[in-house]
Amino acid sequence: MTQVIRLDPERPRLDAIEQAASIILEGGLVAFPTETVYGLGADAMNEGAVQRIFEAKGRPADNPLIVHVSNREMLEHVAIDVNERAQLLIERFWPGPLTLILKRGSRVAPSVSAGLPTVAARMPANTIALELLRAAGTPIAAPSANSSGRPSPTVAAHVLEDLGGRIDMVLDGGPTKIGIESTVLDVSDDSPAILRPGWVTREMLIKVIGPIAEATSQDELRRSPGTRYRHYSPRAKVVLIESGSRDFIERVCRQRLKAGAVGFIGHTHVEINDELFHSLLLADDPRSYASSIYAALREMDESNLLAIVVEGIGERGEGAAVMDRLRKAASESVAEDQVDYTRRTP
Ligand code: TXA
Ligand code: MG
Repeated sequence: MTQVIRLDPERPRLDAIEQAASIILEGGLVAFPTETVYGLGADAMNEGAVQRIFEAKGRPADNPLIVHVSNREMLEHVAIDVNERAQLLIERFWPGPLTLILKRGSRVAPSVSAGLPTVAARMPANTIALELLRAAGTPIAAPSANSSGRPSPTVAAHVLEDLGGRIDMVLDGGPTKIGIESTVLDVSDDSPAILRPGWVTREMLIKVIGPIAEATSQDELRRSPGTRYRHYSPRAKVVLIESGSRDFIERVCRQRLKAGAVGFIGHTHVEINDELFHSLLLADDPRSYASSIYAALREMDESNLLAIVVEGIGERGEGAAVMDRLRKAASESVAEDQVDYTRRTP
């Protein structure tokens, strides 16, 4: 049985927070909201508890987890050698959607880092998450609270869809504010690199620490095991429209409709009168894409579609993070100025 507790996101009830904290301290699993997506938390210093996260999610053992902290002192238990770059970034961006890869402290449960000498850490900007961390008094390891490979959860109902019955508790704090996962930045050595783009953009980071290496895909694979896996995917096949006019989008949708039901998520109003066609209109900006995209993919997936056609957005600023997630969800991408469809390896 998974206990669900509804909380006021600004003033969570202390008794509920304490109950959740004691589950964490006893080695159990509690899902909780952060400003990005819901996380599935366990005591980061308890190896058995951390292993339970991998089991509940069906997560490959070589994909390390992010450790959440509520203050600098807690970080001292997680990471060593918090260098000057890291200090500057912490001052500027914590609490907030920036995860730092640092040298690993020896007391962190080994599975958290999946064998790497480093550890990922962040301080979430969410009252429920911070209160839970304070009450537990221990760093909390928490990946996104979805089954491995499914879109990250932005409301408690998504967590229950994937993990109901497999975890002890869900703290329901309503929809998450940002909707896509944190930026992951490796600052463990002298060449900082972005391993996963997010709400904190490259430009924002460069302003604080200067040049950041463009991670080559090889380098990225080595440094961020998570990028190896297919991610953020609904069950239906996702076709990403990298660029194209309304006319082009309609053509792509109609072509897919010949084979079965099709969903469209995008910012261009597409009119196709076919009962097998479903569409969801979003505003043309990264903010509304980020906050709605995972819920939209899940909702479309409920209708047993053959394909979900998703219209991309501009890559500037936060758009880069949104496009990163869409490319990872897609098994195919198309563009109007390309003659052939480009197949992507899943
Ligand atoms: O916004 C977020 O970051 C959410 C919330 C819950 O905090 N968490 C999240 O966790 O997205 P997860 O497990 O879904 O993604 C963690 C990413 C993975 O790509 C993983 O490979 C990478 O961080 N990562 C973790 N530890 C690492 C390490 N030591 N070195 C390189 N990459 C690491
Ligand atoms: Mg995840």
